[in-house]
Amino acid sequence: CGIIGVVGNVNATQVLLKGLERLEYRGYDSAGIFVHDRHSGGQLIKEVGRIKRLEAKVPATLTGTLGIGHTRWATNGKPTIANAHPHVSADGRFYLVHNGVLQNVAALRDQYLADVTMASDTDTEVAVQLLARFVQEGATVTDALRHVMQLVDGSYAFALADRDDGDTLYVAKNKSPLLIGVGDGFNAVGSDALALLDRTHEFMEIHDQELGVLRAGSVQLMDINGQPVSRDTFIVDVSEGDGDLGTYPFHMLKEIDEQPVVMRRLLAAYTDENGTVNLSAELTQALAAADRLYFVAAGTSYHASLVGAALMEEYAHMPASAYLASEFGYHQPLLAGKPMFVFLTQSGETADIRQVLVKVKAQGFPTLTITNVPTSTLAREADYALNLHAGPEIAVASTKAYTAQVATTALVAKALGVAKHVQAAADWNLAHELGLIAATQQTLVDAKDTVHELAKSALATTRNAFYIGRGLDYYVALEAALKLKEISYVQAEGFAAGELKHGTIALIENGTPVIALISDPVTAAHTRANATEAAARGAHVLRIATRSLAEPGDDLVIDDLNPSLAPLALIVPCQLLAYYASLDRGYDVDRPRNLAKSVTVE
Ligand code: G6P
Repeated sequence: CGIIGVVGNVNATQVLLKGLERLEYRGYDSAGIFVHDRHSGGQLIKEVGRIKRLEAKVPATLTGTLGIGHTRWATNGKPTIANAHPHVSADGRFYLVHNGVLQNVAALRDQYLADVTMASDTDTEVAVQLLARFVQEGATVTDALRHVMQLVDGSYAFALADRDDGDTLYVAKNKSPLLIGVGDGFNAVGSDALALLDRTHEFMEIHDQELGVLRAGSVQLMDINGQPVSRDTFIVDVSEGDGDLGTYPFHMLKEIDEQPVVMRRLLAAYTDENGTVNLSAELTQALAAADRLYFVAAGTSYHASLVGAALMEEYAHMPASAYLASEFGYHQPLLAGKPMFVFLTQSGETADIRQVLVKVKAQGFPTLTITNVPTSTLAREADYALNLHAGPEIAVASTKAYTAQVATTALVAKALGVAKHVQAAADWNLAHELGLIAATQQTLVDAKDTVHELAKSALATTRNAFYIGRGLDYYVALEAALKLKEISYVQAEGFAAGELKHGTIALIENGTPVIALISDPVTAAHTRANATEAAARGAHVLRIATRSLAEPGDDLVIDDLNPSLAPLALIVPCQLLAYYASLDRGYDVDRPRNLAKSVTVE
């Protein structure tokens, strides 16, 4: 979910709607705004579906100098108008938007609100009813909000408006992302900097268990006990552009096409003309001081982490492994003596990852976040941060962020290996190879028609599909299957090719698509044999192979490249297969059902 709020000398409606559009990647089940206006007290407008539908419902005459807004990815309660935010207290005075999950609301409702009829199924409504109750009992709004913060268990980013006070916006945070935007004659709040970048570049952090009282000309921060907190602002120097669709039908296709450019941008950002990788001395030393790297991530970024960990072992001789964030935090494995944590995350906001960051920081371990959003929570809170330089990724299905993650971990592996005097790293002309990769990616994105035909032949009507490979090809298979699932709703599995015969081959029927990825010279023959086994049982097999491993009849041949970097090229046709499977079924490629680009709840 994404939240936004503003107070001061602005047209609040415009700030909210524009901000919500920019936050839509966080969820688009439903959305709503409350705009305060001095004559009527204010208007609450909510709608299910995309922000565009909400906009259509907002009268042009609605202006005000205070407002809050929300775009929702349903966690608690279905995506209905009643469950959409803002939620309002029974007395009609307080309006609250919330990102996060409150766990103990049932108990709080029983204890404090037995006499109140709830209008929704949401945890958020309990919070706003509770706050109104404390105010009715004589508390100031600030004290009531602190009281609520003390009572609730769970995560929240809150923005609160009071119908009786058009000058004050209240905000509070615990675990869920929130940033205060400091403006000239106004102050604002948003789930991320992007939501406010068209208004201000000056931001102030609000930390967990803090609340803020925002007025047109002031921001007061305090902790949960009411003690004032002072904090400096910082400047976010990000150009906004790049997120526009141009002539593309969908962001996903544009972002697939941008991958060669991203490779070159990473080269420019991290290497010099001799091909030396430049990381800060502090970061390099911290990495070299570790005896094991723990990659912790989710979704596509987890799949990139699997490749990243393999590259660390190969080129930096650094033991490394990848973990799912949602598992790691609650079942921490026995750690090496000197662990260092690497968080790969496109958005830098994923709640599953943040809970791990908080826990490992509390244990005193060094942390590095590699993210596409340098202003994000995980970038700010880790000891070190590296930028993926992929440019805004708008489509929910991640493409260029994945390849940027793999390339960036390769750059880190090279730098670390060189620092550790590993011969394999010294011999590795990574800058040159990434240049070749960019060229190969370009030929692949130019081969769209071929891939579209493959998608039509194998994926047009199927209900399931398998991607198989070994070694790094297996990790690509996992990511390829996720892409297909996310946007075409085909039940897809990425499989270690050798495992197919140990059970899963029972699922192969006449026409079941099995896509074999063959770029690993060590196991190419084995993977081919596994594809043939599947074909013998009726599978519709597609073979994607690198040139020196290719055989007559293969469906797509990719230029030869360093097998360790093969995922960077191999994933491209897989992304396109998913894209066309979705497109040809008539789906909204960029905004698949049930998903949000950035999941800020556990
Ligand atoms: C969400 C997105 C996925 C993404 C995952 C991790 O579930 O839908 O596409 O891979 O979060 O996101 P992150 O921003 O941490 O890479």
